[in-house]
Amino acid sequence: MSLGLAPAETLERSKQLRSEPRPRYKITEISGNQRETLLSMKAVKYIILLLIGTYTLSLAFPLRVQGAAPEMIAPDQMNLMPVPASVQIQTGRLPITRSFNVAVKNYMDDRLRAGIARMVARLAGRTVLTLPSDLAADESTAALVVQCERAGDIVPSLSEDESYSFEVTDKQARLVAPTVVGALRGLETFLQLLHSDREGYYLPGIKIQDQPRFPWRGLLIDVGRHYEPMEVLKRNLDAMAAVKLNVLHWHLTEDQGFRVESKKLPKLHTLGSDGLFYTQDQVREIIAYARDRGIRVMPEFDIPGHSTSWLVGYPEIGSAPGPYKIERGAGIFEPALDPTREQTYKFLDTFLGEMAGLFPDAYMHIGGDENEGKQWDRNPQIQAFMKEKGIKDNRALQAYFNQRVLKILQKHHKKMIGWEEILHPDLPKDAIIHSWRGPASLADAAKKGYNGILSAGYYIDLIFPASQHYLADPIPQNTTLTAEEAKRILGGEATMWGEWVSPETIDSRIWPRTAAIAERLWSPRNVIDIEDMYRRLSVISRQLEELGLTHEKNYGMLLRRLAASENTGPLRTLASIIEPVKEYRRYQMRPQTMLSPLTGLVDAARPDSETARQFAANVDGFLSDAPRFSLYRPNLEHTLAEWQSASRALEPLIDRSPALQEARPLANNLAVIAEAGLEAMSYLSTGDAPTTEWRNAQLARLDEAAKPKAALEFVVITSVRKLVIAAAELRQLRSTTPAE
Ligand code: ACM
Repeated sequence: MSLGLAPAETLERSKQLRSEPRPRYKITEISGNQRETLLSMKAVKYIILLLIGTYTLSLAFPLRVQGAAPEMIAPDQMNLMPVPASVQIQTGRLPITRSFNVAVKNYMDDRLRAGIARMVARLAGRTVLTLPSDLAADESTAALVVQCERAGDIVPSLSEDESYSFEVTDKQARLVAPTVVGALRGLETFLQLLHSDREGYYLPGIKIQDQPRFPWRGLLIDVGRHYEPMEVLKRNLDAMAAVKLNVLHWHLTEDQGFRVESKKLPKLHTLGSDGLFYTQDQVREIIAYARDRGIRVMPEFDIPGHSTSWLVGYPEIGSAPGPYKIERGAGIFEPALDPTREQTYKFLDTFLGEMAGLFPDAYMHIGGDENEGKQWDRNPQIQAFMKEKGIKDNRALQAYFNQRVLKILQKHHKKMIGWEEILHPDLPKDAIIHSWRGPASLADAAKKGYNGILSAGYYIDLIFPASQHYLADPIPQNTTLTAEEAKRILGGEATMWGEWVSPETIDSRIWPRTAAIAERLWSPRNVIDIEDMYRRLSVISRQLEELGLTHEKNYGMLLRRLAASENTGPLRTLASIIEPVKEYRRYQMRPQTMLSPLTGLVDAARPDSETARQFAANVDGFLSDAPRFSLYRPNLEHTLAEWQSASRALEPLIDRSPALQEARPLANNLAVIAEAGLEAMSYLSTGDAPTTEWRNAQLARLDEAAKPKAALEFVVITSVRKLVIAAAELRQLRSTTPAE
């Protein structure tokens, strides 16, 4: 997997779903010899960190930001995400008052008008100011002037000019863009620049010149495994626009569901979807909604594997006789289209031709992943075909299939994109390779002359923290690609695979982490300050709520439902420091089907715990303050005491709520963690060194508590271990530190 993702192995997502648990991800432990030096190194490290911190503060916002004079806004108060290509902070500020209005210069159309109206509505909502809804007639007195030259592409395209520049002075804000799409990007920046203080709302004086680093910045939403209603797609398109993503990769077909209406082959959706599909009118509605926001919609029809739902209605194009049923499990399944029969290609010509007319995007994704060809191996007619044509193995057979599909796509004027498995010497150079198992295939494809996009590193269904995704770069610093080859890397996509998401939980799996990926794909490569990313991410996360995203509010809702009570305090405390298990371990630890409710504690709990991150930072700060141990002490003691009382209060709550029975061991472990932390703090505060037995017992209990329960794991144990180890090292510290 990619840069920043701990396991360096390749990622076989569906295979892992079926195989034995492979606990490859572990919370980083402190190794034996590191333990020895933990405390003595801390003081030195703290001073170094302070020095580095002071230096990087001036660089925290991108290198291009120029230093702030007192009357300017400080770089570390800027909340832009993605960070623009170039930012110059200036003096002055533009007040935002009830008389705020917008004038448009040079070019205007419905898309721009609607984009401005949405921006003004959000500005009004945020400021609680009633703002004029009409455009200003007089450019010279307008608070914001949007100057734009042309519409941009009728069908959003890879070559769209998304650039814009933006300047704010005391008198006016001016957004200049060659296309309406560039203006839409700039309007999002405008909203992110809104600040406030005692005097009211304002935009700081600033000069921005911005354009994306990569032209392909996508989010895949898998609606095959779990159907997502229209409003889920729309609110996610709004969120995508807010962070300047520009491709919705609509994964429409899976073993578990065929989600698009086909008028020509209606048994596809009538028999393959449980009635949960998008009509063609709804598809057009989504495409128009996305286009309004400068977002492409690329459909994926995953073939020849991942195709059970196709075969429920049309078993005759399968590689085994059937009958077939909609798949309810998770994993890799055997059904695959029969690549040896002309009937299959006639069928695909009809279906893909119909879809080519429905989806205007230049590209059509044909999937191509995870076909193991087991049905092919067992079918004598397929084996005879391979022998006759000299096709030596299943890979070559799939390459033959891809060639035939490519001709169909070409006939219908579509360019082909597929998962990296489609890479084969016979593949024409205008196909795009979509890398998912590791970044190496992307570089390999680029070297061979193919364009490619990266998703390895951006698998948000793996529940990794935003920081890991953030550091995965489509063209890493140490790339071996030539400049020419690097140009073939078009960008990347976050992938929201749909095994374990419902309309209630999907937003919390996508957001806010996807905003960090959006920044990676838009901003200059040197924008990699993780701390600053998280600072801005929490601001952006709240702003996404104003678009109707439910990643925050459904957290409380799910906890209230589980507790069957308004009073979720202790449950919320527990949920704030546990995360669903990483990678694909959830299915093995807590098996479910596609028909299971996704309303358990594992569904309420979210990735990338902010509480755990804060706790870790406070523990590090506290330990850096050796031998005094006073920095952050009250805060840590308060937090640990809160965990302890929550663990007690959880008992009656769990007694009342059978749905929470599975949380009982977690509640018990919460007590263990709190106790270990509090005892360690007490040793460190009094200077009493604990016994070796105490240390070993605590570490053993923490090891037990670190084992996932109900597919959930604590993400604060590394930090509590540090406290225990530090306490145990007191004796050594006392003997090496001169008395104060
Ligand atoms: C994939 O994750 N199988 C593309």
